[in-house]
Amino acid sequence: MVTGAARGIGRGIAERMVGRGYAVVVTDVDGEAARRTASEIGAAVGLEQDVRDAAGHRFVATTAHDLGPLTAWFNNAGVGDDGRLADLADEQVRRLVEVNLLGCLWGMRAALDAFGPGGGDVVNIGSLSGLGPVPGYSAYAATKAAIVSATMSVAAEAPRRVRVHALCPDGVRTALLEGQDPEGLGAQLVHSGSRILTVDETADAAVALLGTRRVVRSLPGWRGGLVRTSTLAPSVTRHGTRLFAALGRRAIARRTRGGG
Ligand SMILES: NC(=O)c1ccc[n+]([C@@H]2O[C@H](COP(=O)([O-])OP(=O)(O)OC[C@H]3O[C@@H](n4cnc5c(N)ncnc54)[C@H](O)[C@@H]3O)[C@@H](O)[C@H]2O)c1
Repeated sequence: MVTGAARGIGRGIAERMVGRGYAVVVTDVDGEAARRTASEIGAAVGLEQDVRDAAGHRFVATTAHDLGPLTAWFNNAGVGDDGRLADLADEQVRRLVEVNLLGCLWGMRAALDAFGPGGGDVVNIGSLSGLGPVPGYSAYAATKAAIVSATMSVAAEAPRRVRVHALCPDGVRTALLEGQDPEGLGAQLVHSGSRILTVDETADAAVALLGTRRVVRSLPGWRGGLVRTSTLAPSVTRHGTRLFAALGRRAIARRTRGGG
């Protein structure tokens, strides 16, 4: 079961799960795109699902259960509104919390309820931004920090044979990232990293968590350590931000010139 899987990272995960022989349920708030993706990649079914609706998760779990024992559930759906908290519209803040955080919590509850005695894996798609202060992404990053927190708690609460993981990728080349303001602080900080990740390597990392005891994995690993270090002295972030934003602006300019 993969939410938000009509495109981007979710589609990449669903493709890999089909390749591993799973009967995959692809869901997305865009039902037509979910059905199209399901048929293109050979998934069992594509369904319309808004992850903000708790009952929708239970319905999807029942559908998945009809295909066989449910053993893997990816809470991937997300929205990526960037901007300083003061500049976002109320509706954007609400949507970020409802889709990214509530959508993940409802999904975990439905999955835990639907796993059989053999257990299973829940993989939540967090973000590197959830591991430390990220000016320009404050509301988005808060939802992702909450996902990391909930993942760690639920992993410890879960019954034996149930594993709960969070993957925290740096920027990934998808429509979500492309939709952000290139002049904005958030995009500049994302581009200050080593490079933008591909959907393939991100989806590989998500699927690789299945069956492991790893609870939180950042991608790339070294960026996770760096961001976590910044939480030790958040007051320094204000100064570091200027430096990283300048690096990001340079990387964006290089990419624009190179067309890549
Ligand atoms: N792209 C990045 O740089 C990046 C980095 C780290 C984490 N992530 C996370 O990865 C996940 C996937 O993002 P992506 O980059 O593939 O983005 P994307 O925009 O390509 O895909 C997101 C999908 O989620 C769907 N969606 C949006 N709202 C929904 C809702 N209410 N219910 C169900 N589906 C909904 C969209 O229709 C879309 O198909 C998100 O949780 C995102 O926060 C992305």
